Amino acid sequence: MKNFININDIVDYKSIVKEAIELKKDPYTLKNIGQKKTLGLIFFNSSLRTRLSTLKAAKMLGMETLTMNFKSEGWQLEFEENTIMLNNSAEHIKEAAQVISQYCDIIGIRAFAQLKSKEDDEKEKVINSFLKYASVPILNMESCCAHPLQALADAITIEENKKISNPKIVLSWAPHPKALPHAVANSFVNMAKINDYNIIITNPIGYDLNPKITGGIKIIHNQEEAFEKADFIYTKNWSSYNSYGKILVNDNSWKINKTKMELTNNAKFMHCLPVRRNVIVDDSVLDSNSSLVINQANNRTYAAQTVLKKIILNEK
Ligand code: CP
Repeated sequence: MKNFININDIVDYKSIVKEAIELKKDPYTLKNIGQKKTLGLIFFNSSLRTRLSTLKAAKMLGMETLTMNFKSEGWQLEFEENTIMLNNSAEHIKEAAQVISQYCDIIGIRAFAQLKSKEDDEKEKVINSFLKYASVPILNMESCCAHPLQALADAITIEENKKISNPKIVLSWAPHPKALPHAVANSFVNMAKINDYNIIITNPIGYDLNPKITGGIKIIHNQEEAFEKADFIYTKNWSSYNSYGKILVNDNSWKINKTKMELTNNAKFMHCLPVRRNVIVDDSVLDSNSSLVINQANNRTYAAQTVLKKIILNEK
């Protein structure tokens, strides 16, 4: 694997999930493959899970790590070509990406959507600029439109917890006071499609995700109908895609509660975290035995470790 930018960089998804589950049994088994290599993690946005799990994954492969919160610690970057840099930007991405490539053998990038312009976000300016100018592999730690490491951890969690071969999985929108990006939901849907999972999406009218991603998947605007006989409820908020980045409704009735979970087939509850308690989901669900959120966070380490291994060894 040259870079890990989106799910399509994985040639055989089922086999990488199996590999991660195997690696989890003895994660230090590959502790020599990253020796004398450095992973650099560049954050343009906050993180708990991605930062710590990817650092841990790298260390379990024997890698050195460097981390930088670019927004607060780096020079403001310029991304425009052929520009006269008289604005606030002190450094061009051309130099920055090449310089970081001198210090690191792999560069992880986190750069969220701005949610101001669909066209701009879909250009994935930050991660694509690093891809263009860095001379080492790039790892997507959540870009504007994709969070493939989260999706891989979610696939591992589903495979570990499913009771039937093709469980019913519901991706459900839930309310949130802030406008959030579509990256987690997009990658979850792409991952479900690649795995041929029996997935349906439920969200209020006006919140349908990018049709290029959801094409072929049933979208129901009645949450309770969607929940019937579900085996997994994956919850996430996202802002409107059509009215890009807007909060159209913040309908509390879409919050996940015990009564809704009782409509399911004893479904497991999933969320990528961080989650706002009693806004997205009630305590009674999050604290119940059906919640897999901590398992998902744990699996972030093995998702990252497996992907880093494939990049280091240049495996498919
Ligand atoms: N799920 C996830 O990516 O968590 P962080 O934003 O804390 O990294």
